[in-house]
Amino acid sequence: MQKLSSRRTTFLSFQPPAIGPEEVAAVTETLDSGWLTTGPRAAELERRVAELAGARHAVALSSGTAALHLSLAGLGIGPGDEVITSPITWPATGNVIVHLGARPVFVDVRDDDLNIDPALAVKAVTPRTKALLPVDLAGQPADLDPLVATGLPVVEDAAHAIEAEYRGRKIGAIAHATCFSLYATKNVAAGEGGIVTTDDDDLAEAILEYRLTRRGDGSLYDVRVAGFKANLSDIHAAIALCQLDKLERHAEIRARHVESYDAAMAELPGITPLARDPRDRHSLHLYVVRIDPEIAGADRDAYQRALAEEKIGTSIHFLPVHRLTYYRERFPDQPALPIAERAGREVLSLPLSPAHSDADIADAIEALRRVHAGFSR
Ligand SMILES: Cc1ncc(COP(=O)(O)O)c(C=O)c1O
Repeated sequence: MQKLSSRRTTFLSFQPPAIGPEEVAAVTETLDSGWLTTGPRAAELERRVAELAGARHAVALSSGTAALHLSLAGLGIGPGDEVITSPITWPATGNVIVHLGARPVFVDVRDDDLNIDPALAVKAVTPRTKALLPVDLAGQPADLDPLVATGLPVVEDAAHAIEAEYRGRKIGAIAHATCFSLYATKNVAAGEGGIVTTDDDDLAEAILEYRLTRRGDGSLYDVRVAGFKANLSDIHAAIALCQLDKLERHAEIRARHVESYDAAMAELPGITPLARDPRDRHSLHLYVVRIDPEIAGADRDAYQRALAEEKIGTSIHFLPVHRLTYYRERFPDQPALPIAERAGREVLSLPLSPAHSDADIADAIEALRRVHAGFSR
């Protein structure tokens, strides 16, 4: 029998940021420069991300949520409109639709990768539908072609997917607007931040208008729309620029960790990673497994508690948004979405960050093996 190693003595964080001396120096330089708010570093970030995405425009914003919100606002979405989206996402994806007075129409996901089912999304289109909002869950691009083929604007929630490619094409210029997050855990982690890429000149201009309440020429300013305060500071942009420099190096580390996980999961009945489409480049942002309690001997919540006792941090991506209190109360006529609802009870995200060492991931795997052995005895 294989000998299992002993428990960790320190808690393994689920997704610690991989910050080094470069980021510290870049922040210090920014502070010394005297320019703290949106300035040359944010502009440089926009240039770099537009180039990476192969898009005409990139607009840096204060969060991924703002990127989604201002993209929909820039498309003129408002009361009476419907936006079709995925229930397996962070609630911000639905919230921004609600903020604009529109209705989120949640459709079910595919059982293998938990991304929006394109056939169901297309079927849900009505004359009130003004946009489709797919999510690239965990870093697997949504199936964009059938959504784009509807002719409706596609606003892609690519919060997890900055390096991703869909059928050989870089994410960032396939959808009408692609929204990235620079949140602390993301593949480009600035602490907070977001960025939209688009080829649509008018949309880019509209997002710029909404980004800051005050815009103007020369010494005067004017207000043409009631904008928001959603600009990115140069302090955050400086961190994001360093993280962009490390994008491929970090991706290699995560790929190594994912390989270790894949090998281990193949030997743990009842624990199955989400599917990754070999035609695409997955950004490997999250390693999400599904725990089938019938086979794995216990449900996801029991596994999460047992792993915490083993000092292994995990997370849940995601609980189905339409089942959260606000959405249940506000949209009581939302139909059941059986695949999403089952997935919401089964998903568990294992530790994955370029800040993790190979030994950290080995600890997570050993702990999961021990827990699995205990439950499936
Ligand atoms: C799928 C998804 N969409 C949107 C967001 C919102 O991004 P932010 O936290 O930068 O506002 C997040 C995460 O944070 C996310 O995971």
